[in-house]
Amino acid sequence: MQTDDDTEQVVSTGSLPGWDRVEQLVQDAHARYRDLADGTVADYIPELAAADPAWFGVCVAESGGGLHLAGDAEVPFTIQSISKAFVYALVCEALGHRPVLDRVGVNNTGLPFNSVIAVELNDGHPMNPMVNAGAIATTALLPGGTPAGRWEHLTRGLDAFAGRRLEVDDVVYRSEAATNQRNRAIARLLESYGRIEADPLAVVDLYTRQCALRVTARDLAVMGATLADGGVNPLTGERVVSAQVCRDTLAVLASTGMYERSGEWLFEIGLPAKSGVAGGIVAVAPGKGAIGTFSPPLDPAGNSVRGQRATAHLSRSLGLNVFASSVHVTERAGAGR
Ligand code: DON
Repeated sequence: MQTDDDTEQVVSTGSLPGWDRVEQLVQDAHARYRDLADGTVADYIPELAAADPAWFGVCVAESGGGLHLAGDAEVPFTIQSISKAFVYALVCEALGHRPVLDRVGVNNTGLPFNSVIAVELNDGHPMNPMVNAGAIATTALLPGGTPAGRWEHLTRGLDAFAGRRLEVDDVVYRSEAATNQRNRAIARLLESYGRIEADPLAVVDLYTRQCALRVTARDLAVMGATLADGGVNPLTGERVVSAQVCRDTLAVLASTGMYERSGEWLFEIGLPAKSGVAGGIVAVAPGKGAIGTFSPPLDPAGNSVRGQRATAHLSRSLGLNVFASSVHVTERAGAGR
């Protein structure tokens, strides 16, 4: 992954810069990478290949509710793997910290998101909720009893994260449902290890639908800002999940959200984040807000090229890196040193 070293590294002490500065930096991030032509649009879900590679949207949602938009921030696309983060949060909210940790895990596989080998190497354990095996196991844990009940719980929760009703893109759903033999195989494999109790194919169907929910970069920013805001949607004021669930979800995103590139991502950008194969990325700055980006061309790990670059630029210039600090001058002076 490539990032720009000439972006000034700002260390924030807890809040975003003023409104005009954030606005200017969001416009800058868009202008800076608009013409970057690297990456390839995903086509293993046939319908995704119809995306325009030029689409590029950026949005920052402040945890106080302010929104900053640039480019195609309101163009809809399917949420894909980014849904895994929010479904995981809903399942943690319903079942609690420990049961989900035991059933799904939080460790990186070091392997691609749809790896079957990862399941085999780990005695059938799905390892973490951000790879397909773990996401399918997580969707199976949703409350509701029946597929319809689980879907109701899932959509009510994701709508609350976004602050509006999200719709399924039927064309993408059908396109993936007709070609997702690999996910069906993963679900059957989990079943063979006794790691999934619901009907595996019905769970894959729910998972495929959740991935086909349509969002925009703006929605992703608002959904992320809800995780940054202790679980309260900053636009609607609705509590969606607890602050502890947000903390757990962000910890999992930090270690696994960008798949086998998660270490490199954290090293360069320093924010919990999740990407999706349609080109979305959400990155969350706890207490401050979130960045939503959308641009379909992906790198070989399946992460949007422009989205990564724009997020890196904003993390640096807005002072969002959670590992960055500066010397606390006043305290040191007060201590008489
Ligand atoms: O299960 C799949 O393969 C897709 N519905 C989602 C994969 C995905 O978004 C991977 N992300 N980069």
